[in-house]
Amino acid sequence: MQTQDRDTQRDQFAQGKPLWARAIATPATEFGPTALPLLSGQIPEGLQGTLYRNGPGRLSRQGQTVDHWFDGDGGILAVHVDDGGATACYRYVQTQELQAEEAKDQFLYSGYGQMAPGPVWKRWGVPPKNVANTSVLALPDKLLALWEGGNPHALDPVTLETQGLDPLSGLTPKLTYSAHPKRDPHTGNIYNFGVIFGPKTYIQIYCSHASGDIYRQASIPLPGLSMVHDFVLAGRYLIFIVPPLRLQMLPILLGTKSLSDALQWQPHQGTQIIVIDRDTFKEVTRIDTDPWFQWHFSNGHEDAAGNIVVDYVRYDDFQTNQWLKEVVTGYPQAPATGKLWQLQINPQSGQVLHNEPLFNFGCEFPVISSLETGQKTTAIYLNHHSHTQRPVEEMFDCIARIDGKTSAVTSMAFPSGCYPMEAIYAPDPNTFDQGWLLTVVFDGNQDQSTVQIFSANQLDAGPIAVLGLPEIIPFGFHGAWQARA
Ligand SMILES: [Fe+2]
Repeated sequence: MQTQDRDTQRDQFAQGKPLWARAIATPATEFGPTALPLLSGQIPEGLQGTLYRNGPGRLSRQGQTVDHWFDGDGGILAVHVDDGGATACYRYVQTQELQAEEAKDQFLYSGYGQMAPGPVWKRWGVPPKNVANTSVLALPDKLLALWEGGNPHALDPVTLETQGLDPLSGLTPKLTYSAHPKRDPHTGNIYNFGVIFGPKTYIQIYCSHASGDIYRQASIPLPGLSMVHDFVLAGRYLIFIVPPLRLQMLPILLGTKSLSDALQWQPHQGTQIIVIDRDTFKEVTRIDTDPWFQWHFSNGHEDAAGNIVVDYVRYDDFQTNQWLKEVVTGYPQAPATGKLWQLQINPQSGQVLHNEPLFNFGCEFPVISSLETGQKTTAIYLNHHSHTQRPVEEMFDCIARIDGKTSAVTSMAFPSGCYPMEAIYAPDPNTFDQGWLLTVVFDGNQDQSTVQIFSANQLDAGPIAVLGLPEIIPFGFHGAWQARA
């Protein structure tokens, strides 16, 4: 599509909507290795490596929009930072399904919220489209594009060329691999899981070497056909928190409802906390508690008394799914606010000791230093709204640092019409408790995306470097920092 046509389409789509809608109005445009102009500041000397980000790059085709934000085709941004300069490239993950849809220039597959076109019987037995759009895992020789409904896709870590589905030496096609793996900072081992739906719904837990090859697995039964998006590594434990969602299997099998529409919120079922021994993969305890929903955890650890402490973004119900579905319209209206909470449990007695809010603003995308996974955190970083009454259709306009000891908040508010994505922490290789935050910011006033770098301990000082990107990067989900070896 020509630049002028895209501008026209963007203006038409975004009319009467918040400025962030301009970032998703047209499919993302790929670009090859491009030197990024330094618009202000200076790239810090110690920052050497690659920022990867994943997210739905294409939400529409031939005027048809996908039914849920989660169904957009995955596009990967890589920003290589080296010796005070930066280059970037952006590529779609070339899944088989994307290639088939490109060939016909129409959507062909069902997905999380998407229904394949045509008669229902044509949907029977057809697996959903693997959109490879949720996060990345950087391995020594490849980059994985992750999507929780299937196997990962392997990409060249420099060119982002897609190499194909990658079963990590342990996945069959029916086994799924979630988009939130956790890497033990001491051993380099990678923990992850997949939810397997069927007559017996269970979580398959994986442990991989640093290479990514899976060498240990176990199955843990779930209380029902629920959805688990993320989990926690906390000292000696893996924690899974299962929300009171139940999937209606019949309409899925008949092809009359999408997965998203077939998930029912059943608060009377309560939320279930499952504690697993990380070395044996044996179940330690299961705790039934109040109903809530969470997509994400920031981290977990064992305190001095041997209790488990977990920080997470909590929602009262599953309305958040409706808000995320409506993102594709550019004007979501479902009320859904997540707040940062802290949970403390005793794994021996199976009791919840404490479960309270930590931060009063609507927030998401909590991240930490990857060097602190499973241990007490120095700080949590997250995206949040600048005030509690911010309109429901708005995206986050601030990033904050919440001190792990004092809970003191340091916040960075972006100018009006500027929206940061999830911030990624890049540790300073020379100083243990120092690092930088990198985020991609969309400026709806200028129709421009930038990479912005902050000193993690001085967020309120503003960006220390701003780099211009050659194309708009649509809002995405998750990413990673891979330090230069
Ligand atoms: Fe996520």
